[in-house]
Amino acid sequence: MVDEYTRQALASMPKCELHLHIEGTLEPQLALTLAERNGVALPWTNIDELKAQYEFEDLQSFLNLYYALMKTLKTEEDFKDLMLAYLTRANANGVRHAEIFFDPQVHVCTNGLGFNTVLDGLLEGMAIGRERFGITGGLILSIVRDMDIDSANMILDLAQPRKAEILGIGLDSAEVGHPPARFVDQFARARRFGWHCVAHAGEEGPAAYIRDALDLLHAERIDHGIHIQDDTELLERVARDGVPLTCCPLSNLRLQVVHDMREHPIPRFLDEGVMCTINSDDPAYFGGYVAANYTALVSIGMSMETLAALAGNSIDASFAPEARKTQLHAELATWRTRHGL
Ligand code: HPA
Ligand code: ZN
Repeated sequence: MVDEYTRQALASMPKCELHLHIEGTLEPQLALTLAERNGVALPWTNIDELKAQYEFEDLQSFLNLYYALMKTLKTEEDFKDLMLAYLTRANANGVRHAEIFFDPQVHVCTNGLGFNTVLDGLLEGMAIGRERFGITGGLILSIVRDMDIDSANMILDLAQPRKAEILGIGLDSAEVGHPPARFVDQFARARRFGWHCVAHAGEEGPAAYIRDALDLLHAERIDHGIHIQDDTELLERVARDGVPLTCCPLSNLRLQVVHDMREHPIPRFLDEGVMCTINSDDPAYFGGYVAANYTALVSIGMSMETLAALAGNSIDASFAPEARKTQLHAELATWRTRHGL
């Protein structure tokens, strides 16, 4: 059990969130409200029936529900509301800067929405969140790796005129059988847009996908990266080069990537000098926002000192301008003093 003082201390600790899918913040109640508002028929008609769907055995079983509920998002206002609901919770979790994935291929190519509808709504929500809470950040356009490559190219065509409003490119969804090598052209194009590059790799897929994300896609951060534990040489390289991993402990537990929090490799990665960060991934699905992910590490014996260092890593691993990083480090230092660290 984690005491209330520790819980509150971790919720007020200034931090960056670097691995968060905005669609993964769609809470079951909001999904039902949007379904009603937009006349979308879901297979589940009440909250209890819907909540019974949140037992996952692997990544795909989660993605099935995640994509089903995404159909309830229809209008610019829906995307603004979703973003603002997340940022309100993020603020209560000590998030000061957030770099946020979105999956436009699904909204546009599968669900028939306009690209600008999605982007405008999300950016409006972020502008309000910045004004209301002082949370800075940006959007990362995530390529859905198990959809056809034409849809990825089409989305990049649509994004090109608005490239200055987007921070980077990512790669998500069903990993195994959809290796990074397939997306070399799309990531090269994103680099020409001036975007940062990140990729999910080594969540369910092998360590080789992590190496390819670095070598072929020029990923600056690896999202998850858990299976780097199977490749000592790669682990040493990532530690030496300071490549950040965006770890998501509660996600890993709920998707059975790890079977017990005590088996999570974060402590070993830190011992090896890897720059780990702590994030929530899809908090509406995995039982907690980012502070709960830090708290989960207290329950396996991690010290407050280490958790504060992890928050420091989240600042250093972000794509925030240097002046903003300096400001956030100062906020973290103030928090440390207040908590006797
Ligand atoms: N992994 C891969 N794709 C995803 C995830 C995830 O955890 N969440 C949303 N899309
Ligand atoms: Zn993810």
